Amino acid sequence: MSEHEKSSNVVWHNATVTRERREQQNGHLGGLFWFTGLSGAGKSTLAHSVEEQLYQKGFRTFVLDGDNVRHGLCADLSFSDEDRKENIRRIGHMSMLYVEAGIIVLTAFISPFRADRENVRKIGGVDFHEIYCNSSLEVCESRDVKGLYKRARAGEIPDFTGISSPYEEPEYANLIVDTASQLENCRDEVLSYVTEATRK
Ligand code: ADX
Repeated sequence: MSEHEKSSNVVWHNATVTRERREQQNGHLGGLFWFTGLSGAGKSTLAHSVEEQLYQKGFRTFVLDGDNVRHGLCADLSFSDEDRKENIRRIGHMSMLYVEAGIIVLTAFISPFRADRENVRKIGGVDFHEIYCNSSLEVCESRDVKGLYKRARAGEIPDFTGISSPYEEPEYANLIVDTASQLENCRDEVLSYVTEATRK
């Protein structure tokens, strides 16, 4: 039993409205598209821009975003290695509930540790697709949309990814997009990947 499995005497309840029936109704499969990369690499912007396109075509989608989730579900977690692991574990399980509901989930979390992402791959199986938003630290830092890199360099933010905490590049990414380049190019690449992967 893992450290998280403290519940006993619980029995999984099977739905009559199954994932397959939902997917039939939606006209596409569910799936988990996991964007990873440095802060400022464009994960959220890209995820929302892909979602907009999918939505306009009638796909059922949802974006889960690091900053938003950390306001509620994961507000109790810091940026220590242990808490990031727990953050990703929770999101992984939550995402798969959405997938079970037939939805295309796009997640935007730094998720800097390979082992944590591989754990989600284990939970998600064939439904998990890792998308590496590849942008150098120099580019992300020069953008510094939220002003956090500047503060991290000044020593005001501990464990900041890329500065005082590592980012481990994916080894088995299903798709790598060069997010230092034009957003439209990346959007179109991801869009065709997602459309193909969720085709019924
Ligand atoms: S993760 O490492 O646990 O996956 P997550 O994606 O949820 O991170 O949150 C990252 C966001 O939190 C960043 O985009 C940034 O806005 C903010 N943030 C605040 N502190 C840190 C930090 N120490 N390291 C990285 N991001 C941070």
